[in-house]
Amino acid sequence: MEALQYARSHQDAFLEELKTFLRIPSVSTQAERKADIQRAAAWLRDRLLDAGFPKAEVMPTGGHPVVYAEWTEAGPGAPTVLVYGHYDVQPPDPMELWRTPPFEPTIVGDDIFARGASDDKGQLYTHVKAIEAFKETSGGPPVNVKCIFEGEEESGSPSLEPFIREHQNMLQADVALISDTGFLGKGLPSIVYGLRGLAYLEVELTGPDHDLHSGIYGGAVLNPINALCALVAQLQDDNGRIIIPGFYDNVEGLSAEERAELAEVPFDREEWLNEAGVITDWGEPEYTILERTVARPTLDVNGIWGGYIEPGAKTVLPSKAFAKISMRLVPHQDPQRIADLVSARIKELAPRAVDVKVRALHGGEPAIVDRDSPMMEAASKAYEDAFGKAPLLVRRGGSIPVVAKLQQILGIETILMGFGLPDDRLHSPNEKFHLPHFFKGIETSIHFMHNLGQLSR
Ligand code: BES
Ligand code: MN
Ligand code: MN
Repeated sequence: MEALQYARSHQDAFLEELKTFLRIPSVSTQAERKADIQRAAAWLRDRLLDAGFPKAEVMPTGGHPVVYAEWTEAGPGAPTVLVYGHYDVQPPDPMELWRTPPFEPTIVGDDIFARGASDDKGQLYTHVKAIEAFKETSGGPPVNVKCIFEGEEESGSPSLEPFIREHQNMLQADVALISDTGFLGKGLPSIVYGLRGLAYLEVELTGPDHDLHSGIYGGAVLNPINALCALVAQLQDDNGRIIIPGFYDNVEGLSAEERAELAEVPFDREEWLNEAGVITDWGEPEYTILERTVARPTLDVNGIWGGYIEPGAKTVLPSKAFAKISMRLVPHQDPQRIADLVSARIKELAPRAVDVKVRALHGGEPAIVDRDSPMMEAASKAYEDAFGKAPLLVRRGGSIPVVAKLQQILGIETILMGFGLPDDRLHSPNEKFHLPHFFKGIETSIHFMHNLGQLSR
């Protein structure tokens, strides 16, 4: 295939472009980064035009814009692929832990370090370059391609569902393609068929209406931070089992078949512990580590604050205490129902002496995609073609809310064709993307579109 040749001989140029993309600090959760978000969207649109899309636009939404492009001239009978990705990134904090600046991409060995390198700029860009390779060598890919790149994924995609609903015709496709996940390990290409969902709550406890001297009032006024800690401790047992009535109601146990399959997945416990930087694992003893992280729901405090946290001692009985609590969900758990349930339980557990407010932040639905389609086969073969190895079919514990939305609104299944690695440090300082995966990712995308084109013949 000439497209492959083209991709191989243009690696240097592709890398320079990726660096330019990574220099734009498109953090979607920070209001002061709005101009950078817009700059990233416009830059991406221009690259789509350069790649040969006759139509590429920055489309407004209620929040950050969607970048949309399409090329639908593959001919009668050719399938249509909807490529989804996100050009927004997580905040880089804590800054002092980065060895190289987060928005000055730096190549060390075979890796490129920058915020968004793996999640998701480097990954989404593989498809843009695959399409360019086809355009430059054979007039276009053998399939129709529509690209939808959003700028709010890391802040819960609040505008995406309305956008998809409003543009159902425009987005009509046979299959969606997302590269926003990763390999199970080096040399272990993986296609993800299941993702967890997410529900997220923010809790605010108020005790006294102003901070009090803890010598004068301590012992006779309930401290809201103490109360919050006690409350959180009652949500979960020592093994991580969530003790909220109804929480597990719709949770489907793992089938014997799925357990057997998961047990086959290569897993090195020592390596995993090392990767996570922990001395031992934790969690429901009747499930393996892999099972716990991909197929079991969780409850985690992401942040807890209040009172005095500056150096030195201050004797104070604070007025307020806060916590951010998230739940990872598995198929058939509804984020709204879980948010309501946990919120009700928190209110029930809060002592009368404190006022409790619970706000729901963004969530996302879990998803399981069809594993046995000709499209899946085309994807699996594409990995084999590019990496010389058939991919594993696995579930993962992260969330990509658009997958369920695409099933519900457009009625299409998604192929989660990721190129990340477990040590990419997503959402953390020193995020990186393995450059051989960037280049092979482009080739995998080329093979996938080629294989998919063959299907219609
Ligand atoms: N790309 C990740 C999700 C992911 C990472 C899935 C690794 C599987 C393996 C995505 O950008 C992400 O971070 N999603 C958020 C959810 C969202 C609602 C903020 C997450 O999982 O926390
Ligand atoms: Mn992502
Ligand atoms: Mn992410």
